[in-house]
Amino acid sequence: MSSVWAVLVAAGRGERLGSKRPKAFAVLGGRPLLAESLERLDGIPRIERVVAVVPPKWEEPSILCAEEVGASKLTACIVGGETRTDSVRIGIGEVPQHADVILIHDAARPLLRRQIVDRLLGGLGEGYDGAVPGLPVADTIKRAPGGTVVETLDRSELVAAQTPQVFAAGALRRAFADADSCGTDCAALVERAGGRIRVVPGDPDLLKVTTPEDLAAIEQRLAREAR
Ligand code: C5P
Repeated sequence: MSSVWAVLVAAGRGERLGSKRPKAFAVLGGRPLLAESLERLDGIPRIERVVAVVPPKWEEPSILCAEEVGASKLTACIVGGETRTDSVRIGIGEVPQHADVILIHDAARPLLRRQIVDRLLGGLGEGYDGAVPGLPVADTIKRAPGGTVVETLDRSELVAAQTPQVFAAGALRRAFADADSCGTDCAALVERAGGRIRVVPGDPDLLKVTTPEDLAAIEQRLAREAR
């Protein structure tokens, strides 16, 4: 059985949420957004340990939050960087060399279910360096730099990638070794480094919090889950 460590990135400012607090501390169902992912990651048996990457000055509240939800797998809580890629790089640095697989998750996607982690871990191996959840795309996607369409993409080939994403630890470390590399998800860096990424079915409920409306939609789903 391979050793799976999780890195939970929660160091974003979340400016589009319009709150003074960082996004991971926006209130969802009466508690910080961060609590949801910490508790859920803790409850997934295949995950051995968790590293949380948080905004400057929010280490202590994060540790308290983990204690409150009984997230005993939290091993390190460290300050993130300027970009998501920087924060992931810092988080990976806290994962010990003996870990075989690293899972990266965004605190901004609180409704994490065990099934998706099982699907992702099942998708690794067989020559794959990583696995990501993908959802079909409903809209027609066009490339339009500067507002002029230069290409319309074939929708049947497109997926919208979510987190969590899982990677063979060595492949992820190599992809993040270049301090200048960046991307909007981790898989992009692994792809660029020559890695093969598998897509497994995503979870439509694993919504990402960007605006206050997203928080309201997720609260509704949480309430449905609790029923
Ligand atoms: O900004 P965005 O919503 O795309 O961020 C996705 C995730 O990455 C969030 O959970 C956020 O907290 C995290 N992040 C981070 N460090 C940054 C920027 C974003 O940990 N500098």
